[in-house]
Amino acid sequence: MCGIVAYTGPKKAYPILIKGLKRLEYRGYDSAGVALLNGDIHTYKRKGKVSELEGFAEGKDLSGSTGIGHTRWATHGKPDNINAHPHRSGDGDLVLVHNGIIENYSVLKEALKKQGHTFESETDTEVLVHLIEEIKKQEELPLEEVVRIALTKVIGAYAIVVIDKNEPTKIVAARKQSPLVIGIGENEYFVASDATPIVEHTKHVVYLGDGEIATVERGEELQIKTIQDNETQIPFVQKLDMQIEQLEKGGYDYFMLKEIHEQPKTIADCMRGRVSSEDGWVLLGGIEEQLSRFLNANRIIIVACGTSWHSGLIAEYLIEDLARIPVEVEYASEFRYRNPIIDNKDVVLAISQSGETADTLAALELAKDKGALIYGIVNSVGSSIARLTDAGSYIHAGPEIGVASTKAFTGQVTLLTLMALSLAKKKGTISDEYFQRLITELEKIPGKVEQVMKTNEQVQYIAGEIKDAPNALYLGRGYNFPVALEGALKLKEISYLHAEGYPAAEMKHGPIALIDENMPVIVTCTNKSAYEKIVSNVQEVKARKGIVIAIVTEGEKEISRIADYTIEIPDTEEPLTPLLSVIPLQLLSYHIAVMRGCNVDQPRNLAKSVTVE
Ligand code: G6P
Repeated sequence: MCGIVAYTGPKKAYPILIKGLKRLEYRGYDSAGVALLNGDIHTYKRKGKVSELEGFAEGKDLSGSTGIGHTRWATHGKPDNINAHPHRSGDGDLVLVHNGIIENYSVLKEALKKQGHTFESETDTEVLVHLIEEIKKQEELPLEEVVRIALTKVIGAYAIVVIDKNEPTKIVAARKQSPLVIGIGENEYFVASDATPIVEHTKHVVYLGDGEIATVERGEELQIKTIQDNETQIPFVQKLDMQIEQLEKGGYDYFMLKEIHEQPKTIADCMRGRVSSEDGWVLLGGIEEQLSRFLNANRIIIVACGTSWHSGLIAEYLIEDLARIPVEVEYASEFRYRNPIIDNKDVVLAISQSGETADTLAALELAKDKGALIYGIVNSVGSSIARLTDAGSYIHAGPEIGVASTKAFTGQVTLLTLMALSLAKKKGTISDEYFQRLITELEKIPGKVEQVMKTNEQVQYIAGEIKDAPNALYLGRGYNFPVALEGALKLKEISYLHAEGYPAAEMKHGPIALIDENMPVIVTCTNKSAYEKIVSNVQEVKARKGIVIAIVTEGEKEISRIADYTIEIPDTEEPLTPLLSVIPLQLLSYHIAVMRGCNVDQPRNLAKSVTVE
């Protein structure tokens, strides 16, 4: 949801900014821009991808060793060259980039207009840079103080970075509900929305806290203050545990394909040190820390958005089935505004790949205020959700760059399986024999996912057969119902085809009316319980001439006989089937999107990290 990168140091800023923006492009790609400070400020902005900006900037004055860059996901104002960031003050001395929304921008804009300010763009961001300019005019103060005063007048969410022509080696950065990371190098500083543009330059970072403003100046110590109270904070320097190879495509055409193929490893990484079938245990540090709150919880409420919400639905099946704790799964955006009943006997679990989704963060804050234990299942280390929660577990999937989530989903489901098993064991709601069987099987999942990858060519063939159908229906029961939702979401996200996920038995209450000889119906039939029911659901589709693509367990005969296409996956314990059955659905949407000429990693209108409401 907009990417920010900034640099000040002895090197040329432009190549660092451009490379950084490419790393951040997954956050938004409507337009991109840079501002370089070299005596004067040169600003270059272009609608479209960072590569458009690069082409446009070629041959121009790209000198300067302080600069800021931005890649945009439009909120206020259409994506074009004028609305692109950075935005300049009226006198041209200040430039600013922003991620988030200034909610009171129209009131501020009217007041500024009365003071003689004129605006070029339709953005809320330009209002902020004019507000800073206005305060600066009234009083001679250092840039950081002027910016801080301006921010006390702002309502909304933001991460901003500002530079001033008159203080050429200084960068001021501030955040409220949108992430910012500061990289500390040798006589140089970096600021970015996440660590990906920083990791190749330095491993030493400070995650700016919510409501804080930072000043970095070459040759000076990093300064951090609170925006509201102007209180000095001590920076907490952390060491990044990220490898540069994780940010490259590594020979794959798209990040999404790379990330799909990484899953045997990421699932294994998620389990490492947390389960041993040999010794018969499952252990999650975060749960151990808060064990009595979990064991005495009246219920677990899961809040999440998008793909993470689908993992939450699988967790509902897992935790209720194995640990017998009531679970509710809520869209974070609904939960936060519906005055939910929560108290200190509840555990609220946030699932988020990025750890920055605005709605999930706000839902957690609400739950915290009401006294619930708040727990995070997060991929991005050091993210806002990870820092807000009382306890939590990282999924350790490494950076996920493709906008459509794949390895984070299976990482989340793996972690939630471990959580359900650990709670079940502690509560005594699972027999020793079943527990042992499940953990033994769980350890085999990475190998079985590897085996599912071998269906790739077959899935690609099926993709070719159905790529032109305007709609698709995904069906599943029990543990595979959320998988159907996830399969449909993947197709919508990256191939722009309409798709719906449904519990297989619910189909006859509506979607069945849509079925004809042109409708592909992707059914996950790997359930052992209710198997006959699924067979009947498939029959119902075939009786209406739908095209059935069935995901079945190796050796299955009945459905394979009636389906148009079958994809076989290895047998496993029923609660673990989502980890295998989702893989062909990820591959199917990937191949359809490629065949339809879509940009798989950067689908239109979407962003990887949604830090606005
Ligand atoms: C965006 C992404 C999705 C993701 C959702 C929730 O919509 O495009 O892939 O599932 O946000 O993000 P989170 O980071 O909280 O899991």
